Amino acid sequence: GFDYASPEAYPVLSAKLKELEDSQETGGRCVFYLSTPPSLILPITEGLGRAGLSQESAKGRQWAHLVVEKPFGHDQASATALTESLSQYWQESQIYRIDHYLGKETVQNILVLRFANLVFESVWNRQFIDHVQITVGEAEGVGSRANYYEQAGALKDMFQNHMLQMLALVAMEPPAAFTADRYRDEKLKVLRAIRPFNSESIAECAVRGQYTAGEIDDQAVRGYREETDIKADSEVETTAALKVMIDNWRWEGVPFYLRSGKRWKRRVSEIAIVFRRVPHSMFGPMTPEQLAANTLVLKIQPAEGMGLTLEAKRPGAKNCMSALSMDFDYRDVCKEASPDAYERLLLDCMASDQTLFVQKEEVDLAWSILTPVIEAWQDPKGPSPLQFYPAGECGPKAVDDLLEKDGRSWRRL
Ligand code: BG6
Repeated sequence: GFDYASPEAYPVLSAKLKELEDSQETGGRCVFYLSTPPSLILPITEGLGRAGLSQESAKGRQWAHLVVEKPFGHDQASATALTESLSQYWQESQIYRIDHYLGKETVQNILVLRFANLVFESVWNRQFIDHVQITVGEAEGVGSRANYYEQAGALKDMFQNHMLQMLALVAMEPPAAFTADRYRDEKLKVLRAIRPFNSESIAECAVRGQYTAGEIDDQAVRGYREETDIKADSEVETTAALKVMIDNWRWEGVPFYLRSGKRWKRRVSEIAIVFRRVPHSMFGPMTPEQLAANTLVLKIQPAEGMGLTLEAKRPGAKNCMSALSMDFDYRDVCKEASPDAYERLLLDCMASDQTLFVQKEEVDLAWSILTPVIEAWQDPKGPSPLQFYPAGECGPKAVDDLLEKDGRSWRRL
């Protein structure tokens, strides 16, 4: 076993690695992958650094990469402090901050869909898109991660990373090349354009909820407060929803609605691009409002694929029409199973490719976007107070109201 707390352990590890390098001819390449509680990141990376293990081109070492799991800090200040402390021994080019959503095939497909096709990009803007919905729902509860989750909640656990990353991929400008610098810079630009939250907009545009006892798949499940190691009066949110505005030329006035939560009725993640309605209906007496808006759905999981809803004529003499969906399912086309997100990301790390990893500026920006909400939510009765929902529903009613007050509605899951 390796005792990370013991200073003697690191030189031993170093000697072991040297042995491996000599006998297995690993070419002096080394990946240190930390999937540890956040409090251990620094002690371990400093231990490695002190033992010289972060040095590249030293003692026959070609490179040393450090993979760091989320959460990267627990707020903006702690993330900045962590970045600074890491820089004592590690260069930014050695640090691979993992967001496993970026390794998912369906998430990578967002870029291919947008930038390898002409049809979508030409309508991918405020003139044609009414709004965007990003949903990550889970049937699972907090499971065995009570200690972590009590400190986190949905906002820190899902929004600071996965949700904002997906939003960035949908909203970013086309990068000139799919290389780490170009691609990550475009993500940064769009994150910078997100309208900051203030106490007024938090009351209007943010929702938090916590599950109580309920039923999923006909099985009774406990409420969050009854889960093992959860405080009986915990105010932690297990569902959150946000309406995010992006103040730039492409997206002015187009809301991005984000929702994610635990103990919903089923596991489903998708991104829906909801287009505007036709400006005029020539099919009187039908009004434009009665014609369903085209919607492009990117199905992230578990049924990976995409679908485009279109209005089509129903056969017959009358002008009857209804929405039909052109669906594409990965499983029908790609017979071999998609690689796991982690497989892809760890392979990239070994190939020294940082494209699908998160750079420090993105982490910082993501925290800064959410900090006002995180702070406001320290007070359970503060803006957008905590609301309860029975397990098996997709969050409290306020999640639906968030869209309904804008005259819109979530896609049914
Ligand atoms: C993790 C969160 O980052 O993502 C978990 O910490 C969440 O709370 C998980 O369950 C969801 O990942 P996936 O790949 O199952 O959608």
